[in-house]
Amino acid sequence: MCGIVGYVGSQSALEVVLAGLRRLEYRGYDSAGVAVLADGQIASARKSGKLVNLEKALVDGPLPAGATGIGHTRWATHGGPTDANAHPHLDNAGRVAVVHNGIIENFAELRAELAGRGHVLTSETDTETVAHLLAEEFSGCADLAEAMRLVCRRLQGAFTLVAVHADAPDVVVGARRNSPLVVGVGEGEAFLASDVAAFIAHTRSAIELGQDQVVEVRRDEVVVTGFDGRPAEVRHFRVDWDAAAAEKGGYASFMHKEIAEQPRAVADTLLGRIGADGALILDELRIPAAELREVDKVVVVACGTAFHAGLIAKYAIEHWTRLPCEVELASEFRYRDPILDARSLVIAISQSGETMDTLMALRHAREQGSRVLAICNTNGSTIPRESDAVLYTHAGPEVAVASTKAFLTQLVACYLVALYLGQARGTKWGDEVLGVVRDLADIAGAVERVLGDMEPVRELARSLAGAGTVLFLGRHVGYPVALEGALKLKELAYMHAEGFAAGELKHGPIALVEEGLPVVVVVPSPRGRCVLHDKIVSNIQEIRARGARTIVIAEEGDDAVLPYADHVVRVPVTPTLLQPLVTTVPLQVFACELAVARGNEVDQPRNLAKSVTVE
Ligand code: M6R
Repeated sequence: MCGIVGYVGSQSALEVVLAGLRRLEYRGYDSAGVAVLADGQIASARKSGKLVNLEKALVDGPLPAGATGIGHTRWATHGGPTDANAHPHLDNAGRVAVVHNGIIENFAELRAELAGRGHVLTSETDTETVAHLLAEEFSGCADLAEAMRLVCRRLQGAFTLVAVHADAPDVVVGARRNSPLVVGVGEGEAFLASDVAAFIAHTRSAIELGQDQVVEVRRDEVVVTGFDGRPAEVRHFRVDWDAAAAEKGGYASFMHKEIAEQPRAVADTLLGRIGADGALILDELRIPAAELREVDKVVVVACGTAFHAGLIAKYAIEHWTRLPCEVELASEFRYRDPILDARSLVIAISQSGETMDTLMALRHAREQGSRVLAICNTNGSTIPRESDAVLYTHAGPEVAVASTKAFLTQLVACYLVALYLGQARGTKWGDEVLGVVRDLADIAGAVERVLGDMEPVRELARSLAGAGTVLFLGRHVGYPVALEGALKLKELAYMHAEGFAAGELKHGPIALVEEGLPVVVVVPSPRGRCVLHDKIVSNIQEIRARGARTIVIAEEGDDAVLPYADHVVRVPVTPTLLQPLVTTVPLQVFACELAVARGNEVDQPRNLAKSVTVE
């Protein structure tokens, strides 16, 4: 939920840290702060609001130059987004500075204990307790990594911590439990960050940290231990995208850029998936083929947009494998005591790989003996690390809070997993699999064509800037697309928007329809199950008869919708199950344009953060 950067090297720590924070601002943007080690002292600055406020404050009150520093961009949990609650937090003597992502659950108890020993805590945060505890432990051992290990053993909850101490000038120490932290290894410099995007301009060489580990970085040395002090195995990886991928590249926003990148992202996710023997290839597979053949149920767990990808996956999985498939909101999953065993395959979908609800759901599934397959966009993140198999989506970095290209690539990955299961279980022949893979390969071009004709959608969006409510209807795989369209509009345009299964409308929601209400209808292909198409055409007539302004997304050549559509948005002809890959795109553009028309910040919508690392 928060972005963290640490640096030690020979460059200006302040500049490196601020540049890193700019890249991580998508993770949280209600306050920001930095601390630099200079002349045996810690100099720090913190400011509520976006990073730009901190940058202005640093122009008015510059910090001394130093080559070791840390920084933070916050999404508030404990304590409001004020200057006083912004990170870094310092101890009373100002010798230690700490930044934190996560929640320390026993902070009230620690706070009371510290107050009892005479510490004065000046913020409402849980983080400040760590600064004071670290100062105490450091005074006993004069070793910042050891002090961090001692403190971490006392903490409950989820946390990434990064700290510096004025008496340890060339070292930055980090720790992680259930919250992300990666190490960047440069030439004579090292970085700690919540996400590789923070240091990709300096190095592509990175180290994953495991659970309950402490890392100590110096210019030429990285030492990783467990919280117990034992040396830990270090896993290096190379980041396969470059700094340009994390820049806006001339687009008005990251979201505009990421929408435009979808054809490439879809194509990249398909690359190298078919082996010489015609079999599908996943990235990491630690599940024996015999076990896959024994699977008797699939359960998809995910949140938000990834959950919508799961809802679509259900149609493909059940159709292609004949296995029952449940799709569950990760935040609800473990609390309803789901029926799982060794024959259940759980698929966890997550762009960030750090969503706490999804992580907890997958852990619960593994405790029940189920195997977990992750679909993820972030190499080295926690969800794939803790899964038995992984299929990475190759969307590249998704910076805008609203998910777009990650969604389309999650869909591609879901189709591939469904085919893989079908192939392993013998419900799909090799030639059938290749047929679908060929259809998927055509999708990048289809998405490109949709994107090439979006001006009427933008114009329509602008004309609706004053609307209060927009409804979205769909059937079959179009129903989750309707949910996704509504979610995009809510989070970006801050409008009331709801998605419904079109057939469900007459059971209540049709009462919402009144004169002029915009209703977006995702129409299934007339070449698929005709009955679905005919029924949705009837649904369009029903709402139009009650005054709705109908915006119809229909495939090229589907003229049956014309008499009842106030606006038609055309999408290329695709196989029925793959249609969400093209019908979602106009809804993304629609929401993005409406948000711009309403003067909203597209990349960083209010109250949200890209990666939700708290439950
Ligand atoms: O990183 P994840 O895919 O696990 O994130 C899940 C949701 O938080 C995410 O999809 C969220 O709903 C997006 N902001 C929607 O655009």
